[in-house]
Amino acid sequence: MERTFIAIKPDGVQRGLISEIVSRFERKGYKLVAIKLIVPSKEFAQKHYHDLKDRPFFNGLCDFLSSGPVLAMVWEGEGVIKYGRKLIGATDPQKSEPGTIRGDLAVVVGRNIIHGSDGLETAKDEIALWFEPKELVSYTSNVEKWVYGVN
Ligand code: GTP
Ligand code: MG
Repeated sequence: MERTFIAIKPDGVQRGLISEIVSRFERKGYKLVAIKLIVPSKEFAQKHYHDLKDRPFFNGLCDFLSSGPVLAMVWEGEGVIKYGRKLIGATDPQKSEPGTIRGDLAVVVGRNIIHGSDGLETAKDEIALWFEPKELVSYTSNVEKWVYGVN
């Protein structure tokens, strides 16, 4: 089953939005398979955002990501990579639709509270960067047959 890497950034953690954000993924029907609170080093943040290294905001972005606790998670479900990004909303909260996480809970692009992998390869790379294989918990959820309609 498809998996994606989702992180609540330091602003989301500090603002007390963990339960609100986690509950949106839970209520949708996705399955949590890994979770930990971690303060990433700046070097680690640079690895995570390596695709953006030539952007003018890269340094500030990496300083910010490493400025406090990040809640790192892996969520599993059919189509979770793409739909997870829909739940999150557009990168710039000024453009995110109401009803999305950023649309409802954030105001500016530099403090948009959550990260989500943007594709299959990125999801694989980010999960491998943030988690050791043994930290990913495989289990059968009792609600799966109700979410997917199969036994
Ligand atoms: P992530 O899920 O965090 O990767 O966001 P995204 O995929 O929606 O956007 P992208 O990967 O292009 O950018 C990564 C992060 O850089 C964004 O979430 C923002 O926090 C930040 N960012 C992107 N564009 C800008 C910008 O123009 N200015 C500033 N200050 N930050 C930006
Ligand atoms: Mg991105």
